[in-house]
Amino acid sequence: NDRIRIKEVLGSDMVNHNITIMGWVRTFRNNQFIALNDGSTNNNLQVVAELGHYNEELLKRITTGAALKVKGTIIPSLGKGQKFELKAEIIEVIGDSDAEKFPLQPKKHSLEFLREIAHLRFRTNTFGSVFRIRHSLAYAIHKFFNDKGFIYLHTPIITASDAEGAGETFHVTNFDLENPSKNEDGTINYKEDFFGRPTNLTVSGQLEAELGALALSDVYTFGPTFRAENSNTARHLAEFWMIEPEMAFSDLEDDMNLAEEFIKYIIKYALDNNREDLDFLASRLLDEEKQKPQNERNEMGLIEKLEFVINNNFERITYTEAIEILKESNHNKKKKFQFLIDKWGVDLQSEHERYLVEKHFKKPVILTNYPKEIKAFYMRQNDDGKTVAAMDILAPGIGEIVGGSQREERLEKLEERMKEMNIPVKELSWYLDTRKFGTCPHAGFGLGFERLVQFVTGMTNIRDVIPFPRFPKNADF
Ligand code: 4AD
Ligand code: MG
Repeated sequence: NDRIRIKEVLGSDMVNHNITIMGWVRTFRNNQFIALNDGSTNNNLQVVAELGHYNEELLKRITTGAALKVKGTIIPSLGKGQKFELKAEIIEVIGDSDAEKFPLQPKKHSLEFLREIAHLRFRTNTFGSVFRIRHSLAYAIHKFFNDKGFIYLHTPIITASDAEGAGETFHVTNFDLENPSKNEDGTINYKEDFFGRPTNLTVSGQLEAELGALALSDVYTFGPTFRAENSNTARHLAEFWMIEPEMAFSDLEDDMNLAEEFIKYIIKYALDNNREDLDFLASRLLDEEKQKPQNERNEMGLIEKLEFVINNNFERITYTEAIEILKESNHNKKKKFQFLIDKWGVDLQSEHERYLVEKHFKKPVILTNYPKEIKAFYMRQNDDGKTVAAMDILAPGIGEIVGGSQREERLEKLEERMKEMNIPVKELSWYLDTRKFGTCPHAGFGLGFERLVQFVTGMTNIRDVIPFPRFPKNADF
């Protein structure tokens, strides 16, 4: 199989080369011009089938969606907008496509509609661009950490613990309906789980990553995580991928620095390596913006936004300062929030986050030192007795993209907090052991991969940046 990808054909000068390409028909005009695409780029290669050269039977089978193999010679193109085309010598239909039943039309389809046709969704320009960028970001993530000497640690998907202690776990069971196991008294044992042990799907690889960091110094995870929160929003999935670095001998400041450097690196990587796809999505977004009333339009285009983020420092403020800003804005009647922030200690709603990021600072914001009551048990307690060394990064248009903290490395403090929060101390003895044998300050964060892909691609709905989205009641494809 000596086929060449269309991206390569269009990106180099192969005039007079005899080559083979394979792809799917986008359009077929005048019984002569085939626009062929193989998913390597949104640009189609124009294949010219000389008139009178091919029999009627074959020509009839060249329909939108059909898979073709074409052997021919690259020639300079006279057509507008393309430099090269392929003068076909042999055309072979590899897979037919019933033109009458083919669900995609040459017009624009809604993203919701495309979500219903899993296999053809990938054949559209929008999703082609999104998934090529998603791939590229995943690659850049490994490159970033590898270049810094971090070890990629694979953490388990089936686990007995709830790392966040938030009770949002999916239960795992191997219950056999036809042949259920029985209790001693003969009744059915409905509680049979993972070979007799209750388990769930992981919500985060952090606790395991901490074990890795306290031996290997710097580690990261990058894998699927699961949340059983019944939220139908444009930024929640039941199954999403998370990147979780964990660093020994590091504090909150180191953690923020790493997260900011990391996000900027990934965005720059996309700008440097995915420009064609980003430009396509940027112009798609611009069309969308034009439908909106003037005052609701974004001030910046996609590329401008990404360049702005990599060229400016993130704003760093404490939770307490954020509350002051929100109270003040309410006071000045600049913005009336539906959920009024009237007292210190409450969690921020997404409308507050959006105000801080999109209206007040107009740039990504790192919020630190949250009240301990609204954060997880493992975060390091500050000396004020009220706050923990937490940090969340809020991004324009997305909201929370990163959640992280310095960890409580002091055994007594950690145990005390776990008891206060009803976290099972005994079950987590494997975790607490790290605090007994050479504990040290350490810190890490979790970045939701899909939210990052959303930010980079400008896609509005998180369901459109993962190949097979999982959200309430959606699990077939
Ligand atoms: O803030 P979270 O819950 O933090 C943790 O899980 C920590 N253990 C991370 C750590 O310190 N190692 O989740 C981290 C990030 C969020 O900021 C968000 O980007 C993403 O994961 N996230 C989700 N993304 C999509 N759908 C959901 N339901 C998400 N829940 C969290
Ligand atoms: Mg969080």
